Parts: sequence; structure tokens; C-alpha cells
Amino acid sequence: MKTIAVLTSGGDAPGMNACIRAVVRTGTARGLRVIGFRRGFTGLMAGDQMPLDPRAVANIIQRGGTFLGTSRSPEFKKADGRRKAIEVLKASGVDGLIIIGGEGSFRGAQDLIEESGIRAVGIPGTIDNDLYGTDFSIGFDTAVNTALEAIDRIRDTAASHERLFLVEVMGHRTGFLALEVGLAGGAEAVIVPEAPTDLDQLCKTLGDSHRRGKSSSIVIVAEIDEPGVAFTIANRVKSNVGMESRVVILGHVQRGGPPTAKDRVLASRLGAAAAEALLEGKTGMMAGEVNNAVVLTPFPETWQKQKRLDLSRLALVGTLAG
Ligand code: F6P
Repeated sequence: MKTIAVLTSGGDAPGMNACIRAVVRTGTARGLRVIGFRRGFTGLMAGDQMPLDPRAVANIIQRGGTFLGTSRSPEFKKADGRRKAIEVLKASGVDGLIIIGGEGSFRGAQDLIEESGIRAVGIPGTIDNDLYGTDFSIGFDTAVNTALEAIDRIRDTAASHERLFLVEVMGHRTGFLALEVGLAGGAEAVIVPEAPTDLDQLCKTLGDSHRRGKSSSIVIVAEIDEPGVAFTIANRVKSNVGMESRVVILGHVQRGGPPTAKDRVLASRLGAAAAEALLEGKTGMMAGEVNNAVVLTPFPETWQKQKRLDLSRLALVGTLAG
């Protein structure tokens, strides 16, 4: 193996830069030439590349986003698009590809491997933390802390006005972000897709606690498919128990900002592990962290198996709501 390439794909996540740095510096330390493709699979298909040496990744460990750029690429989902990518990889002499991204990116990578025989290894980079095969994905811890900072501020105004706030967070059809943020932020309730929420019961609980003297409340709502589900819940609370509320959708704020120490360390470990995995001849795997150890999981398992949300934490939110 002489040349490896790296790209970031899908939604950006804080820590992606730290991960690119680790791939580049591990690869070059082991005598490899490393190149980067800009704008994810879109840039790969277009041959938009840059050489990456250790100096090219200086001073990026602390930066949010991804300096290579990223994209969601519908064209890469089609065989014609992937054919273009395979031609570029072969023409550039790439023996192995590292993809930092989420489920959609790994599905594309698996197709590429099957159609070309080019080796590819993935690294979980998504604030949603929804991938099987890793306890944490790069960006999750930063997004939790960013959302938490916002919630602490919302709490000030909620207490001052004696109001109920419904705060909607990202998560891409899962409640990992919502539950972590809700527990850390002392939320009164957390609504996640993994557990059915009895909205009538929630309205009753909120109404009862208001009558018991709780003057302000915060409920964390996981986005389901599209942003905006929190508005539906706000209307329901108003019609059921006559309580006014305010809705805050945190949105893409959660994706930005400098990565936390935890995300930088995770990104550094997984970036190095992915480069080593390619050198060892591995392919079609995601390098994740399970019980603090680096573990390689075959790509299909990352989307076929379901990562379980710890529902005992959801019960704990209820107990601690008081
Ligand atoms: O996958 C990460 C994520 O941030 C999801 O939580 C969210 O649903 C989605 O991306 C938003 O995507 P876009 O950047 O296309 O608006």
C-alpha cells in the first residue's frame, strides 16, 4: 500500500478536522502518501483533491466543521456516479480510502468496495451518535455540550417568566442526543422516537407539576424526520391543559463550534486506527470505540443492527424531575 485518501461525508461534526489530522499524520509516519478529496463523494467523483502532508493539517485540531468540506451526494448512490469515483481513485493511484461520516456514507462505501475492490475503512462522524459499532461518534459530545449551554440559558428566561419551554434537538430519527442533553440539563421530560410518549399523560404531568408549584419546565424533544415536531406538542399541551409554552429549535447550531477534549481524543484514536487498519489489509469496516477499546465492525452491521438507547436513563429523567 502506497497511497491512501481521506474524505468527510454527510453532516459535518466537530472533531472531523482532528480526525483528518490523525489519518494524515499516522499515514505519513508509516511512509504512505496521503491525499484528501474535497466536498465528500461529490468532490471524489469530480477528482477534486489535494495532497495532505503533516504541515497541511497543522492548527486544525481545535477547529469545528471540516476543512475538506462535505456534502450529501445523491449521484454517488447510483452506479454511474460511483463509476466516476472509481476512475478517479484508480487514476490517482489510491490503494485505500478512509471515509469519515455516517450511515449513508458507509452504505456508499460498501457499494464502492463491491464494485471496484478498492479498500475502504470508515470512521463514525456524526452528532447523532446513531451508529451501531461505537459507543460514541465524533461530534456527539460537542453537540451535547453546545445544546446544554443553550438549555442553561433557556432555563434563566423560563424561570423568570414561569414558562414551559419545548427544546427540539437533532438526532436523525434517534434519541441519543435528546436523552443525553435532557439528563444533563435537568429536563422535566424527554421525548424520543425509541419510546412511545403518551402525550395526554405528559400534558397531565406538566399540568400537575404546575399546580404543585413548579413554575417553569423544560421538555427536550428529539426531531423525528423533519424539524418542527415540538410545535405539534406545544399545540397539544395548550389544548389539553391550557398551558402556554415556547418552542426553541436548536437546529444546526448543534453542529458547529470547537470540538470538546473528548471528541478530539476520540477523533485522534479512530483516525490513527483507521489508517492502521488499511495498512493491515482490512476493508469494509468502521473503526469505532466500544468500552474504551477500538473495535472494527463490518459496514453492513453499522446500519443493519440497531444501537439501543438506554431507556433506564429515560426513567431516571422522570424520577429526577421531582
Ligand atoms: O446527520 C446529522 C444531522 O445533523 C441530523 O441530526 C439532521 O437531521 C440532519 O443532519 C440535517 O441535515 P442537513 O445538514 O442536510 O440539514
